[in-house]
Amino acid sequence: MSSLEISALCKRYGPAVALDGVSLTAGQGELVSLLGPSGCGKTTALRCIAGFIDPDDGDIRANGVSILATPSSKRDFGVVFQNYALFPHLNVAENVGYGLLFRKGSKAERERRVREVLEQVQLVGLEHRLPRELSGGQQQRVALARALVIQPRLLLLDEPLANLDARLRDDVRWLIRDVQQASRTTAFYVTHDQAEAMAISDKIAVMKNGKVAQFASPREIYQRPAERYVASFTGEANFLAAEVERALGGGLFRVRAGGATLDVRGAGPFAGSAVLLARPESLAIVTDGTGQLEGRVVKSVFLGAVQHCEVVLRDGASVRLGTPPDRPLPADGTVSVRLDVDRTWLMPDAVP
Ligand SMILES: Nc1ncnc2c1ncn2[C@@H]1O[C@H](COP(=O)(O)OP(=O)(O)O)[C@@H](O)[C@H]1O
Ligand SMILES: [Mg+2]
Repeated sequence: MSSLEISALCKRYGPAVALDGVSLTAGQGELVSLLGPSGCGKTTALRCIAGFIDPDDGDIRANGVSILATPSSKRDFGVVFQNYALFPHLNVAENVGYGLLFRKGSKAERERRVREVLEQVQLVGLEHRLPRELSGGQQQRVALARALVIQPRLLLLDEPLANLDARLRDDVRWLIRDVQQASRTTAFYVTHDQAEAMAISDKIAVMKNGKVAQFASPREIYQRPAERYVASFTGEANFLAAEVERALGGGLFRVRAGGATLDVRGAGPFAGSAVLLARPESLAIVTDGTGQLEGRVVKSVFLGAVQHCEVVLRDGASVRLGTPPDRPLPADGTVSVRLDVDRTWLMPDAVP
């Protein structure tokens, strides 16, 4: 178990910049996700940590000591890949025990450890199966067990659920989190799936073109995104163009947005124009006179538990929100919309 600190990591491939000054830290026992679209540098960062490639610049420290000069095989890290990478001719127990063959310990001790970790990932009874005799979810659990069996200082996972179907993905995701927490193993988890990152992480690094756009807890990332890119990558988001009139103090700002004057939250300072984030759940169609915004429903879709509506506001901005499925909408579509200002977030409109 280690803390891991990455500072100003850079990696270029010819003219392409894969990592452009990435800095983040994982405390002991924390799970940190690297979240971002394909090509933003997630795998490159993970491969630098694993020691499969060398960064051009920057440092990686485990418990305060640089590991850049330590070869991959000596770093004591467990790695789980998207494609499992199991040995096809070895059975489950042999795959899992493989990493122990080159370590100290008797055969009996190795067998005890393999059994222990197979229990953790719920594969007892399948010891003698070959990888091809297992489902995708089972194969990925073998890969997880194989990474954990050496009691790694760090667990590295690169899109481990990408090849599983939706139903299995949830199960394996919870298992990974349970096992990681029970063993208090520090972990880095690469994914392009925001829901996965939110559910599993202590902290998320949202990546953009080889840089970290924001590094914070899932709650902070969702509720107080540093910029529009982060907000749109971490869930459904409505953005309203806002003119900032003045700061009111205490993190409140008076803005013109959506054809109304609103007092909203933000980190500031702001000058002139900004972007107001209103997640769908912070908006509601109301009939009790408490709405600050006026608009017209231009589309509604019944989804069972909820009805999704698209509403065009007075200034022409369009927002998406949910309404109870059994609530009739007015025939002419004209509605009053309440914005829960405690759940809004004002952001700069241009970020370098
Ligand atoms: N071995 C390589 N040679 C050349 N370019 C690479 C190599 N590996 C990655 N890249 C480039 O670096 C960028 C980041 O890639 P990667 O880290 O794989 O992104 P992600 O895992 O977020 O999809 C991409 O533009 C990719 O094309
Ligand atoms: Mg990748």
